[in-house]
Amino acid sequence: MKLSDQQIEDLSGQGFLILPELFSVDEVDLVKSRLPALFAEEHPANIIEHSSKVVRTSMGLHLRDDIFSRLVRHPRLIEPIRQIYSEPLYVQQAKVNVKAAFSGEIWQWHYDFATHREEDGVEKSLAFNLHIFLDDVTEFNGPLYFIPQSHKYGEHQASLDTLSTSYPLWVVSEDVVRELAELHGMVSAIGKKGTVLIFFDNLVHGSPNNMSPWDRSIFSLIVNPVSNACHRPTRPDFKHHQDLTPIESLSDDCQISA
Ligand code: SIN
Ligand code: MN
Repeated sequence: MKLSDQQIEDLSGQGFLILPELFSVDEVDLVKSRLPALFAEEHPANIIEHSSKVVRTSMGLHLRDDIFSRLVRHPRLIEPIRQIYSEPLYVQQAKVNVKAAFSGEIWQWHYDFATHREEDGVEKSLAFNLHIFLDDVTEFNGPLYFIPQSHKYGEHQASLDTLSTSYPLWVVSEDVVRELAELHGMVSAIGKKGTVLIFFDNLVHGSPNNMSPWDRSIFSLIVNPVSNACHRPTRPDFKHHQDLTPIESLSDDCQISA
């Protein structure tokens, strides 16, 4: 799986890329079949929503389940990033954000690097976030909102929010969002299950509550060059893994279920 020159240009110009239905329904259903057991575990890496108490995010999944351990090495996720970096990458984070029907809560406006910098001591915003939609994502069930080109501004000021949700996050202010949205508008990242998103570590994004009757689960893998590894971890390993073993991607015809 290789990105075209145009796709690489779009990614670096806009800060994100949407690759519709890159994984098949069967592949996604296989991945999803592992979720009920993982969510049922009494595990510190299962973080529950403030209000509804359903699982908000389930982390460290490549260390907890064999399908996820293959998914983080899948060439359809890893090879595009290898086109951008010739150096080794490590798995910084692997999770499913659940956003359950009726009860999934917001992800505040933020860019991931603010948390990676402040909590983990990462020096540069070189990581990429790779998502696979495990459900159809529509305007109704809490899609991500991106502010295109917001990754081009370096580092926006951010502050730690420990109150709005059950997941502490370095967030950006309404003033920053207003200014950027005025200049660049917004895009909601929607698509069928199996769709992949790639986005920069310093792209401003967020997502609203899911008040629809439809679940919106998304697999998220963050990869970072080993040379940019975290130096000052304050968070548990499942939030920023300390194992810097370079990712060896599986062969192109690999089965997630192999
Ligand atoms: C979400 O799952 O809606 C937010 C994901 C993210 O911030 O990367
Ligand atoms: Mn994020």
